[in-house]
Amino acid sequence: MKGIILAAGKGTRLYPMTKPVCKPLLPIFDKPMIYYPLATLMEAGIQDVLIIVPPDDQEQFERLLGDGSQLGIHISYEKQFVQRGIADAFLVGADFIGTDSVCLILGDNLFYGDCLRSCLAQAQENKTGATIFGCLVDDPRAFGVVEFDADGRAISIEEKPEHPKSNYIVPGLYFYDNHVVDIAGKVQPSARGELEITAVNNAYLALGALNVVTLGEDFVWLDAGTEDSLLAAGTVIQKLQRTGRYVGCIEEEAFCNGWISKDQFRALGHDLKKTRYGAYILSRCDS
Ligand code: G1P
Repeated sequence: MKGIILAAGKGTRLYPMTKPVCKPLLPIFDKPMIYYPLATLMEAGIQDVLIIVPPDDQEQFERLLGDGSQLGIHISYEKQFVQRGIADAFLVGADFIGTDSVCLILGDNLFYGDCLRSCLAQAQENKTGATIFGCLVDDPRAFGVVEFDADGRAISIEEKPEHPKSNYIVPGLYFYDNHVVDIAGKVQPSARGELEITAVNNAYLALGALNVVTLGEDFVWLDAGTEDSLLAAGTVIQKLQRTGRYVGCIEEEAFCNGWISKDQFRALGHDLKKTRYGAYILSRCDS
C-alpha cells in the first residue's frame, strides 16, 4: 500500500503565519505538524510515501525529511500547481499510486489512541473498496458528516452541512483500493469549486463498497487548520507527552517497525540531543 500526505493547502485560515511557512511545517508543540500524519502512515506500516506540496515549498520539506532513507522509508514529492480539492491528490499522485491501493492523510490531521494501530490494520485488511473513520465531535458543521441508519450502517455523507444528521465526522484519513484514481477522475467540482473527498466517499457508498469504522470517545483526533485548533493541538500533545509517551515520533516508528537499526535510531536522537525530543529518543534506545 502507498501513502499520500496532502500538504499543499495555502493555509489561508492561518494567515499571516502561513505566508512564509507552509501550514504542515508549522509547529505543533515540539515538532513540525507533518511529523504527526507521517508517523500515522508509518504506524500503518507504509514505507512508500508521496508528499504533495505547494509549488514553492518543496525545498523546505526536503530539508526536513529528505528522501526518508534516514527513517528506512522512501519519500517522494509532487507539486500541486492548482488547488482543486482533496480528491485531486489521487490525480496528482496517479503515477505514484500505479496499480496499488492507497492511504491518504491530510497534512493538518493528528491521530492518537490506544486503538490506532488496530484501526489502521483493520482498514488495510479490507482489500476492496474504501475504509474511512467516524469521530464523535460536538459541532460537526465544518466537516464531512456521516449519517447512519438504525442498524449503524452509513447511508450518506454530507460535506459541511448546516444541519448535520449525526455528530460523526469523517477525519482526514482514508484508505482506498486502486479504483480511487478512476473515481476521483470523474468527480465534478462542488459549489465551492473543489473536488471533494466526500464525493469520492459517496461514490464508494453508492457502490456498496464503503466501510466506516467509528472511533471511541477516548480516541484523539485533531485538525490543526485554525488558530484555535492549532493552539489546542499543541496543548493536547504537551499533556499527552507528559505521560512519558511521545506522539508523532517518526524516528521511534521507524525503529519499532524494524526499518532502522538501534545505532541509526541513536544517531537520530543524538542529532536532537539539546531538546527533550532528542532525550526521549535516546531514552527509548536504552529501554
Ligand atoms: C476536509 C474535508 C472534510 C473532512 C476534514 C477533516 O475539510 O473536506 O470532509 O471532515 O477535511 O479535517 P476542509 O479541510 O476542506 O475544511
